[in-house]
Amino acid sequence: MQNLIEIKEVSKEFKILNRREGLIGSVKDLFSRNYKIVKAVDNISISIAPGEIVGYLGPNGAGKSTTIKMMTGVLEPTSGEILVNGNVPYKNRSKNAQEIGVVFGQRSQLWWSLPLIESFRLLKDIYQIDDSEYENVIKLYKSLVDIEPLLHKPVRQMSLGQRTLSDILAAFLHNPKIVFLDEPTIGLDVSMKNKIRILIQALNHEKNTTVILTTHDMGDVDALCKRIVIIDKGKMLYDNDIEHLKGFFGSYRTLKLRLGENETQQTDVNLENALAKHFTEYEAISVSSDDEWTSILINEEKIKLMDVMKAVQDNYFIRDMKLEEISTEEVIRKIYEEGV
Ligand SMILES: Nc1ncnc2c1ncn2[C@@H]1O[C@H](COP(=O)(O)OP(=O)(O)O)[C@@H](O)[C@H]1O
Ligand SMILES: [Mg+2]
Repeated sequence: MQNLIEIKEVSKEFKILNRREGLIGSVKDLFSRNYKIVKAVDNISISIAPGEIVGYLGPNGAGKSTTIKMMTGVLEPTSGEILVNGNVPYKNRSKNAQEIGVVFGQRSQLWWSLPLIESFRLLKDIYQIDDSEYENVIKLYKSLVDIEPLLHKPVRQMSLGQRTLSDILAAFLHNPKIVFLDEPTIGLDVSMKNKIRILIQALNHEKNTTVILTTHDMGDVDALCKRIVIIDKGKMLYDNDIEHLKGFFGSYRTLKLRLGENETQQTDVNLENALAKHFTEYEAISVSSDDEWTSILINEEKIKLMDVMKAVQDNYFIRDMKLEEISTEEVIRKIYEEGV
């Protein structure tokens, strides 16, 4: 099968000015500029088939947006080759634009003061979408989301969620083969995130559009992506099915506890320290908590679940507990921390 996106040994370097401090520094900078090279993307190869939804993940500054900018033709790679639907993106920018749609979260691509329907009409002209195709797409949109109230609203009057929704619809309007979504759910509340996920899934399904999605939200990944690519510091760490990755960490489970106090037990003990005393192979455990639940990630190849329970009980009263398989979020966190 022909790949839709082919990235071969691509790197992108930025030359940035190393600014010196203070007034004297600024004056020195005027005379001798001191540059350093930042390798934002470092020798990455990825092939993507039609119809896939790929999660492109990595911590802040990993190089995700830079990769997307190269695929969309905004940036030229320093070295390596990129083909998007057979085009070299930065060389055939307008041809490439016909084949792709882009959404950068928080930065709308739409006309700020125009009602959404007017933006759609402009896009119809720009992309030369014929009437029947346009009608079909609008019909599809109406069947997927309640866009009627949005159509006549200027983008600037929309909430962030409505704007994101509109941006996504606009990106799919001309039936592109590929849509790039860079942090589309950032800043949205849970119910809006859900709506957006359902929409992306439906559009991918209806149109067999390939979707490249970057996100920090593992909920997005769980809802949408079968395959994930992880990069960090510009380098590729992982490229495979998410299930494969979970299998790799199969011996990990998460013990979730709701901890309470009772009179006989100390209440101010730090759980992490308490556990550290018990387990020399402390790396087999990691602790995190939200308001209610304390999560202890346990590598059962190294540590027995019951031993952890005992150690916790020495210091705390356990009000409730549950056991979960390792979550996507924890898998990704482990990859960032220690690699595969
Ligand atoms: N235009 C630019 N000029 C200089 N450095 C840049 C530029 N764009 C990105 N970078 C640097 O490249 C690295 C990767 O950035 P980016 O691709 O935005 O990461 P991500 O999207 O994964 O958070 C960062 O260190 C960032 O500071
Ligand atoms: Mg980014």
